[in-house]
Amino acid sequence: MEVIIAPSAGEASAQAARITASLIRRKPRAVLGLPTGTTPLVFYDELVAMHTRGEIDFSEVTTFNVDEYAGLPPDHPQSYAAFMRDHLFSRVNIAHWRAHMPNGMSPDIAKHCEAYELAILESGGIDLQLLGLGADGHIGFNEPSSSLGSRTRLKTLTEQTIRDNARFFASPEEVPRHVITMGVGTILDARRCLVLAFGAQKAAAVAAMVEGPVTASCPASALQMHPSCALFMDEAAAAQLQRADYYRWVYANKPDWQRA
Ligand code: GLP
Repeated sequence: MEVIIAPSAGEASAQAARITASLIRRKPRAVLGLPTGTTPLVFYDELVAMHTRGEIDFSEVTTFNVDEYAGLPPDHPQSYAAFMRDHLFSRVNIAHWRAHMPNGMSPDIAKHCEAYELAILESGGIDLQLLGLGADGHIGFNEPSSSLGSRTRLKTLTEQTIRDNARFFASPEEVPRHVITMGVGTILDARRCLVLAFGAQKAAAVAAMVEGPVTASCPASALQMHPSCALFMDEAAAAQLQRADYYRWVYANKPDWQRA
């Protein structure tokens, strides 16, 4: 895993956006896996700014979002479909039929999840999977104890995640208990993964993801098995890493061609 401690969340987000833009320029039909949450907000703003300056064209890009609440219609303001519309899809020239979201209102969720997996396969697979990190080590909505081989499916949120996400709803009772998420196995199939983690509240999860054992108790730790995963964080999120100085040293001494 490439561990990058950036001077700030803004700098890390800009770097992640530059990596994404360079993929899209190299491969106009790139397939992206996309996250929601507070973490990727600046990353999306950077992508939009590059698009506005004419530096990237989304017209042939395909996207698959990593997760969605079950039971929220796409026009619900807290649905991830609404989040993606507000922060990216309505601000760039992506073709709406190429922007895939799990459908939290599907009458047959198991079948819908299978179809979502199939659509990813038929698109040629995800080239770059962007991810945030839950404070309990979840990726997508794969909560601790998720199978490390799991595929897209229905999951029940932990009480901690419900509390963490309650800030977006009028009360914790309004946060859906169930979600649809790509599985850890789905995420591991992406050709490249890029994780963003910012703030002191992510420091324990970052340490477990990078330096802990590979365990379903921290689903993000499965990324230790991924052949091409980069984790960008700010100083606060790096605070519990034992080998932070080594990661800084590695990054400072990298040949340019090998940088993320
Ligand atoms: C949420 C989302 C994840 C996200 C994570 C971190 O529950 N399902 O996809 O990466 O938790 O969220 P935030 O970026 O708001 O801290």
